[in-house]
Amino acid sequence: MAGNLKGLVLAGGAGTRLRPITHTSAKQLVPVANKPVLFYGLEALRDAGIREVGIITGDTGDEIRAAVGDGSALGIEATFIAQSAPLGLAHAVLTAAEFLGDDPFVMYLGDNLLRDGITPLVEEFRASGPDAMILLQRVPNPSSYGVAVLDGDRVVSLEEKPEEPRSDLALVGVYMFTPSIIDAAGKIAPSARGELEITDAIQYLIDQGRRVEPHVVTGWWKDTGQVEDMLEANRLILDVIEPRVDGELVDSNIEGRVIIEEGARLVSSHVRGPAVIGRGAVVEHSYIGPYSSIAAGCVVRRAEIEHSILLERVHVEDLDARVESSLIGRDVTITRTAAKPRAYRFVLGDSSVIGLT
Ligand code: G1P
Repeated sequence: MAGNLKGLVLAGGAGTRLRPITHTSAKQLVPVANKPVLFYGLEALRDAGIREVGIITGDTGDEIRAAVGDGSALGIEATFIAQSAPLGLAHAVLTAAEFLGDDPFVMYLGDNLLRDGITPLVEEFRASGPDAMILLQRVPNPSSYGVAVLDGDRVVSLEEKPEEPRSDLALVGVYMFTPSIIDAAGKIAPSARGELEITDAIQYLIDQGRRVEPHVVTGWWKDTGQVEDMLEANRLILDVIEPRVDGELVDSNIEGRVIIEEGARLVSSHVRGPAVIGRGAVVEHSYIGPYSSIAAGCVVRRAEIEHSILLERVHVEDLDARVESSLIGRDVTITRTAAKPRAYRFVLGDSSVIGLT
């Protein structure tokens, strides 16, 4: 295949399904096992031998740039490309035209996670040299995705979030393209939701008689667009972490796969993995149960947490029921007050969700 393979990572978009977290913060930076979702994708590109990576950003561009820097810590060279508005994945390709030049590229949606990475798939793409390669996975709810219809090893048609899907093969958010996709993206019209859809651009290639190869992915894949998906991705990653204790344990015990980061301090507490406790976190007289990711700088006192993601600097103190299946944004405080009358007292952002029993 001609040209130097580049990466194009999409880290714009509004993240409406992860509100309120995404009112103030990029959905691609929500951490899974204490690492931003986006970084898993950047590392997958790096592992596939890709160095030059264009990162498309939107409203949260400053935050994405601050997190990724020049990319060297992740083994890539990052170029940030601002998209004027979230007008679709094919619009993002057009926006990146100058960066992409005449080179083939892997487009990676910044909120997608693939267990097995993409290295063999990139090798297959390089070796077989089609005009495009799409990754697919069978799902129970194809209407939530782009859906492909195959005839043997040929892609016949693609449809974006069809009400009546004609197959259960969803488009995974990783695509391999030659520059022909840039031309195709310039030819299509916006969809009913007002976006230039990548599915339509790929369909255009098919209609032009170009070779679009499918590859069905068997290892797990997660589009972390919703809270349930985030928690599931967190479970899947925590299941394979390498346990280590770099922090301090005082009168505390841990079981199973657990990471205690440097500067974290556990006092009279019990952690049952898989779980990760971030740098400088303080956990006292508490229980942290399976599938919990407690980010840097959190404080948990006299509380129980299980199957939850706490972002940086969350304070949870003096709760008499366990916190479960929760995603808690940065700097949130949950405490008990002794003040009378006995009542719940909330200061909540827009679109917050509270479940009381
Ligand atoms: C996008 C694509 C869709 C694909 C999905 C994978 O949807 O439009 O075709 O199946 O990513 O994550 P979105 O998540 O932007 O709704």
